[in-house]
Amino acid sequence: MYTHLLSPVAVGAVTLPNRVVMAPLTRSRAGQPGDVPTELNATYYAQRAGAGLIVSEATQISQQGQGYAWTPGLYTDAQEAGWARVTEAVHAKGGRIAAQLWHVGRISHPLLQPDGGAPVAPSALVAEGAKCFVVQEDGTPANVPTAMPRALETDEIPGIVADYAKAAARAGRAGFDLVEVHAANGYLLHQFLSTNSNQRTDRYGGSLENRSRIVLEAVDAVVAELGADRVGVRLSPHFTAHGIADDEAEASALYLADEFSRRRLAYLHIAEPDWAGGPKLSDDFRAALRAHFTGVLIFCGGYTADRAEALIATGGADAVAFGRPFIANPDLVERFRRGAALNEPDPSTFYGGAERGYTDYPALDPEG
Ligand code: PHB
Repeated sequence: MYTHLLSPVAVGAVTLPNRVVMAPLTRSRAGQPGDVPTELNATYYAQRAGAGLIVSEATQISQQGQGYAWTPGLYTDAQEAGWARVTEAVHAKGGRIAAQLWHVGRISHPLLQPDGGAPVAPSALVAEGAKCFVVQEDGTPANVPTAMPRALETDEIPGIVADYAKAAARAGRAGFDLVEVHAANGYLLHQFLSTNSNQRTDRYGGSLENRSRIVLEAVDAVVAELGADRVGVRLSPHFTAHGIADDEAEASALYLADEFSRRRLAYLHIAEPDWAGGPKLSDDFRAALRAHFTGVLIFCGGYTADRAEALIATGGADAVAFGRPFIANPDLVERFRRGAALNEPDPSTFYGGAERGYTDYPALDPEG
């Protein structure tokens, strides 16, 4: 069973024993104050070390890059030390883990921003219908509409690119095997890529190449810290939530795939429409992505083991990432191996809280 899905693959500098990737999953359980990973977070990730690769939950590279209370950061010494405990725990169980580097751009609120200012974005355009998660002034948490952002000045962009580099350096020191630049799901880098959210007239707006510029600058800065064989990127070309409506989504994904290939990046991770909706990827577009990217290609979004096996067997992907199944099945790979039934995840415990719905999902009997 699943001879392709359960076979090894080299991803840049790292060899995965199987092609079942744990998708990045926001769980909103970082230690407070300071958004610092804890022993509980280390336990959660270590329980899932059977994954070929774990991609960490999205992790803000700066306070400016935060859009949800209680998500972890990677821009303070305490956060770096917390992540070092996580990577140590994963490695002790024989696993591998990538840090997902995140800047939310306009999907934020003054309550999350340094000095209570406006969130930043390519252009001063609100993300229609989008929500973020804040702790209000009276101490109660709430989902609130995202705030009107201010447009970044051209001369602020090098500072954001430098924040990616600094977070990548911290990821290396914290023992992460790889890093993933999050350029998907309507967050800052995707806001630059998308034709509707980027109305800039400087070298970061207008043409497809200009809209892609900050993505490549961030990637190059991260590569300069860690080497291309430790770097992947996540894109979601058909994502339509968070106010994204991109007229050139496929063309820019293919342009970026070429640029990533030239740089010999370790992997390209494509988030397909799933929890956020959006049009499905066509077979032609999948094939084009495959043709344009020469590294390891990962797809994610509502896959079963059967569909993942079929996609890898036909060469359409090198690996497949699973999200919600990993929430409820710490030993997901072993369950695939044995053809065992899966636990069902409980959405009421996805975000926030402690052990319940986080580290208490049962694994199979190891002797079984
Ligand atoms: C979320 O916290 O809801 C979230 C984070 C990162 C994503 C998507 C959703 O890529």
